[in-house]
Amino acid sequence: MSSTLIAGIAELVTNDPAAGDGSPLGVVANAAVVVDEGGIAWAGPSARSPAADARTDLGGRAVVPGFVDAHTHLVFAGDRSAEFAARMAGTRYDGGGIATTVAATRAASEDTLRALLAGRIAELRAQGTTTVEIKSGYGLTVADEQRALRLAAEVTPETTFLGAHVAPTGSAREEYLDLVTGDMLAACAPAARWIDVFCEPASPHAFDGDEARTVLKAGRAAGLGLRVHGNQLAPGPGVALAVELGAASVDHCTHLTGADVDALASGDTVATLLPGVEFSTRSPYPDARSLLAAGVTVALATDCNPGTSYTSSMPFVIALAVRDLRMTPAEALWSATAGGAAALRRTDIGVLAPGRRADLTVLDAPSHVHLAYRPGVPVARALDVGG
Ligand code: NIG
Ligand code: FE
Repeated sequence: MSSTLIAGIAELVTNDPAAGDGSPLGVVANAAVVVDEGGIAWAGPSARSPAADARTDLGGRAVVPGFVDAHTHLVFAGDRSAEFAARMAGTRYDGGGIATTVAATRAASEDTLRALLAGRIAELRAQGTTTVEIKSGYGLTVADEQRALRLAAEVTPETTFLGAHVAPTGSAREEYLDLVTGDMLAACAPAARWIDVFCEPASPHAFDGDEARTVLKAGRAAGLGLRVHGNQLAPGPGVALAVELGAASVDHCTHLTGADVDALASGDTVATLLPGVEFSTRSPYPDARSLLAAGVTVALATDCNPGTSYTSSMPFVIALAVRDLRMTPAEALWSATAGGAAALRRTDIGVLAPGRRADLTVLDAPSHVHLAYRPGVPVARALDVGG
């Protein structure tokens, strides 16, 4: 390996407030970066750049930290476009469609699932995502959940056991929860970093607060970190439970009470907002401004899944966050990078500074504002340094 100087960066977003303009994005104009052994060796104004073995010129483009998509469900087969079309005609989402994907995923061969997953990972990377979290949850048997996690672990260290997605059709809830917290957890924990639960008493398919607590405590005892799907369809116990148990993140947060916002502000659980879901289920958007005003750490993620948000595009999510969550372009970019890193409790990503991973995303644009200013235009891609 040798060092590479990446020059010609019109705007470098570092997320390092000590660098550049002193803002949270730590913006450096006319910048350069030196990459060595997959890490950042140096970042700063090009006038002061050190020598390196090789040189690439980006010709006046912007560079931002690679997007951290901290919530996806990428291991699945099948199609639910008809469900989407019905929803656009007025049918409400309640989680019942998950069973369709479970059936298609169980029926798919391991090679088919691996190929589908590889295609989705390529799609993410082509749009600037360099870290992705992947959940199981479309298997719901010991063997099928274990298979999903094994496949996910082939492409990311951020793997999440979501056996408690819904109680599968035809199974008694209590028996299923015993399985999830018993044999299924034991089989899945070796390939998982996290455990998650769909805590949503408003859905007849998902789990209530007591059930979710049981699942999360079992996961914690097995050595897994905690994540929660909470408050997606209605106000509920998910957010408070996540904060109480010290979960790394509670995701969706579509329906929050003042007490939920206060709880989040008092703890260190990240609120991960998934506006692709509100877009694709035609639901009200979460109140990002209240969370930010209270000092809550906010992340943005795609929730890429075939039911509620079949997008792999972090730029699309950023555009929604700016337009509909009323986040500034700077806040949205921070949440899609450093926010995602916080939601995964990672300190090696989300910031472009010496010693961090050289996960760089280049924009075919002179500034990060173009991510929201040019919605639907493929401006972002992960940079292959030396490639
Ligand atoms: O994050 N809400 C629960 N799980 C997914 C949707 C799963 C599906 O409908 O297939 C979500 O929105
Ligand atoms: Fe999800």
